[in-house]
Amino acid sequence: MSIEKVGVVGCGLMGSGIAQVAAQAGYPVVVREVSAQLVEKGLKSIEKNLARLVEKGNLSSADRDEIRGRLRGTTNVEDLKECDLIMEAIIEQLPAKRELWSSLDTICPKSAIFASNTSSLSITEMATFTQRPDRFVGLHFFNPVPVMKLVEVIRTIGTDPKVYDEVLTFAGKLGKTAVRTTDRTGFIVNRLLVPYILDAVRVLEEGVASIEDIDNSMKLGCGHPMGPLTLLDFVGLDTTYYIANIMFDEFKEKRFAPPPLLKRMVLAGWHGRKTGRGFYDYADPAKPRPMHLS
Ligand SMILES: NC(=O)c1ccc[n+]([C@@H]2O[C@H](COP(=O)([O-])OP(=O)(O)OC[C@H]3O[C@@H](n4cnc5c(N)ncnc54)[C@H](O)[C@@H]3O)[C@@H](O)[C@H]2O)c1
Repeated sequence: MSIEKVGVVGCGLMGSGIAQVAAQAGYPVVVREVSAQLVEKGLKSIEKNLARLVEKGNLSSADRDEIRGRLRGTTNVEDLKECDLIMEAIIEQLPAKRELWSSLDTICPKSAIFASNTSSLSITEMATFTQRPDRFVGLHFFNPVPVMKLVEVIRTIGTDPKVYDEVLTFAGKLGKTAVRTTDRTGFIVNRLLVPYILDAVRVLEEGVASIEDIDNSMKLGCGHPMGPLTLLDFVGLDTTYYIANIMFDEFKEKRFAPPPLLKRMVLAGWHGRKTGRGFYDYADPAKPRPMHLS
């Protein structure tokens, strides 16, 4: 069976991007949110993105209308029952995901494939909430979804290889480069990125270098588009702290342990760009100023 119609659950930051790229790739998409307002908010953000593409001359108005016509919002989980693939991008909380997957499992036909966009939870554990662990994978997109080319495709020890291949093909049809990985917390990108970012905090904490010098070192010495502390402010200190704790719990290795300074900043509510303060002060967002943290 091939994937012809897709469902997306959650139309926040990630879900709206996933729904957009699937509709752009020609798939009819049903998007489910918890309230009519959130359905509307999610669809509006997609419309805004498509309008920007039209303005820049990267999309015709006729194509925009066709793409928009392929997207249908709903608050009713039953409306997902005709989808061949369901991609979940709801809040990162296991009880919420458990409730969703077990209800979808009873609603959707046995042939439907389930995929989670989780960043830190176990795909294997989520598969146990259903009677179809062989048809359960991870599809980990990156933010912003329409721009970032990568998707990590995660198989568990129970995933049917044919299902896995089908999902890899689907990811390619979305115009993404799919990489294959297994169900280990952090997959590939966060497994490599999180210890690097945490080490940058440790370098600062130990007084090896200043915030600006750490960031400039990796930008100018290694050609990174931004330094690790700027990146941490972008991702969110709270999100990184949460993921680091889960990774430390999984691997019990010091390199995944959040440094005390990161914990203190999270406790203080300095979560980065979104709260106006992190390693930099964003009072003037165009000119972030390094914070004094000692
Ligand atoms: N933000 C990122 O950079 C990023 C990157 C990769 C993966 N992820 C993962 O993607 C998922 C979503 O993250 P996000 O950043 O889009 O969060 P978000 O808060 O922007 O969106 C989540 C949305 O899910 C909705 N929701 C909650 N329960 C629901 C349900 N039962 N049915 C339908 N909708 C429901 C919420 O109303 C909310 O709009 C998480 O699992 C996260 O770990 C996030």
